[in-house]
Amino acid sequence: MNLSVNILGLKFENPLGPAAGPIVEGLENMQFFNNNTCGYNVAKTISVEGAIVPKPCIAGTTNAIYNCELWSEHHSDIWINDILPIIHKEKKKPIVISAGYKEEDFRYLIPKLDLFADMFEISTHYVSEDLLPGIVRSIRENTEKPIFMKLSPHIDDFLGFVKTVIDAGATGIVAINSLGPGTAIDLKARSVLLAEQIWMSGPSIKPIALHRIYNIRKAFPDIPIIGVGGIGKAEDVLEFILAGADLVQMLSSALIKGRGLYDKIIKDLPKALEKYGFSSIEEIRQVRKTTIFKDIDTAVDNHPSFNEKCTMCMLCVKICPAGALSAAEKSIVVDKEKCIHCGLCESRCPVDAIYGVLR
Ligand SMILES: Cc1cc2nc3c(=O)[nH]c(=O)nc-3n(C[C@H](O)[C@H](O)[C@H](O)COP(=O)(O)O)c2cc1C
Repeated sequence: MNLSVNILGLKFENPLGPAAGPIVEGLENMQFFNNNTCGYNVAKTISVEGAIVPKPCIAGTTNAIYNCELWSEHHSDIWINDILPIIHKEKKKPIVISAGYKEEDFRYLIPKLDLFADMFEISTHYVSEDLLPGIVRSIRENTEKPIFMKLSPHIDDFLGFVKTVIDAGATGIVAINSLGPGTAIDLKARSVLLAEQIWMSGPSIKPIALHRIYNIRKAFPDIPIIGVGGIGKAEDVLEFILAGADLVQMLSSALIKGRGLYDKIIKDLPKALEKYGFSSIEEIRQVRKTTIFKDIDTAVDNHPSFNEKCTMCMLCVKICPAGALSAAEKSIVVDKEKCIHCGLCESRCPVDAIYGVLR
């Protein structure tokens, strides 16, 4: 099965890479991703000075990561003199270097990082939007490599953000950074968890990432997009590509489950492609142009139908918001007067026994 993606003259063996974060901080972490099956490698956001990160700074639940991390704790000199030359020498795949944040940082950093980067990814998490054109220009003046500007989800006018950075000379978009600010409470400690202000990532933010990717792709059919935010399994990768991404990244699910998850997802991709009738990743990028962007018919009012897979588990009966489903002797009965055609039962059926409302 062909998992490769060709964009911007670069070949990626598969579309998955790590996202900027603690998992790609420093030499050993970058060597890990150079040697695993990921399609590309990423460096944690490098700024001129190393960040002084308040500790503790990361907490996890089964569906989300909370963090108050900043950029790389290493000074840029360590990256430029000690880490990146080794990674460059051992390099087996394209390398994306994340960098931040101010114009003067980029004028200093980009010429020194350029040799080691196949693409740049620029964090805008702590940047005021009116500074964006100057920031992009300060990078473009110092490199011919592709520049991906990373969208943070707290930016309301995200299509305006994309237009501004592309007009100023950026190549593409990474969407999205962590969501927030938020606050988490630690009841046992009778205090806030980590800090007064934390950022959220992982599976619970997936729909927000997909929303930004889908709408950016719809408005900008031709720019390269790297999708990130909530990926945790092979099907998620396919969803992100169908929504509009060309490449994808993951971080939090690997913090929740362990970094072996990257190899597992890549190993699961052929099976997932086959299950949904695709013969390659490239096919999804082609198919989305005619399927996902078609007008949605909101006038359908079909009732649920049931197939032979029904186990009479009663979940649909319990959750129907209209009370329209009830159990007969060996089947579920639909009260068509009460049914509101919402689709919840079909989406929640654990054995795919309900059809006809959603699809
Ligand atoms: C602990 C932690 C540290 C992060 N550090 C960075 C960073 O240095 N630069 C950056 O652009 N994004 C950073 N991010 C955001 C991630 O790269 C990613 O955009 C976000 O977590 C959503 O993806 P995920 O749900 O797969 O984690 C960080 C996220 C976490 C959880």
